Amino acid sequence: MTSINPKASTRVAIVSGAAQGLGRAFSLRLMEANYCVVAFDIDESVMDLPVTAKLIADQSQRLDVQAVVKTASQLGQIGVLVNNAGKWKSTPVTSDWQTSLDDWDEIMGTNLLGVMLLSRAAIPHMKLCGGHIINISSYYVLPAKSDGTNPPDTDLYSASKWALNGFTDAWAKRLEAFGITVNGLCMGAVDTPMLRNLFPSGDLPVDLLEKVLQPKAIADQMMDLMLSGRTGENIGAFVGEPVTIGEQPPLHKRITG
Ligand SMILES: NC(=O)c1ccc[n+]([C@@H]2O[C@H](COP(=O)([O-])OP(=O)(O)OC[C@H]3O[C@@H](n4cnc5c(N)ncnc54)[C@H](O)[C@@H]3O)[C@@H](O)[C@H]2O)c1
Repeated sequence: MTSINPKASTRVAIVSGAAQGLGRAFSLRLMEANYCVVAFDIDESVMDLPVTAKLIADQSQRLDVQAVVKTASQLGQIGVLVNNAGKWKSTPVTSDWQTSLDDWDEIMGTNLLGVMLLSRAAIPHMKLCGGHIINISSYYVLPAKSDGTNPPDTDLYSASKWALNGFTDAWAKRLEAFGITVNGLCMGAVDTPMLRNLFPSGDLPVDLLEKVLQPKAIADQMMDLMLSGRTGENIGAFVGEPVTIGEQPPLHKRITG
């Protein structure tokens, strides 16, 4: 871990899963916006990021999460938490018992338990001055736009992203009084190692390559969302469409689109 002078007026942003892909783009964009970024990942390549502090930490482990939040709170006021770290894998419902239990621990440990641990550790600090929590979800949870595309063999990944809605919705309501906004970013295919690993060659098919979403565009969308002050929403980003935060939907349509 590397660090600079602690300073009460410093605005700190925590980004999980920051070694590559979307987490890396969120970290760099927040740094560009003058946040003091605390980035962590289970992969040691997070140490290459040019941000204020970086740690090798696993968000499914409570002691790791507490160490991340402690580092962040010593650097300044935690104002942003990006719950980005996520795991994807094929988990057919026809898998055997033990494989299913192992898959559950792996997917839910990061995608849900980790988000809960990190957020519960950071929120007491964020309540002091307000801020923004961004839960990184998937366009699967916006059925009106995703055309029912939840694939049949990623039940645990899909379930984890649907469950994130519960966090986003409840936290948005409870934390509004403290000036904390809570939203989900729900994107389709983004050009990251997670997506490329789906293809044996690591190359995206040409038709997808032309229109795939770019991490930088999603990072810009995150900044626009924070500036808007909107809360309790799932904001979509769809392949082949411009990436914007769109109009604010009516209250009853915010989480399910
Ligand atoms: N790429 C896409 O098409 C896409 C689409 C929709 C949603 N998402 C979501 O966006 C987020 C980022 O995805 P990505 O495409 O950049 O993935 P990625 O696999 O390229 O990067 C994820 C990073 O998270 C890290 N990580 C995994 N488990 C961790 C843990 N327990 N603690 C700390 N770090 C951990 C990994 O080491 C990796 O560096 C995920 O939540 C993913 O579900 C991605």
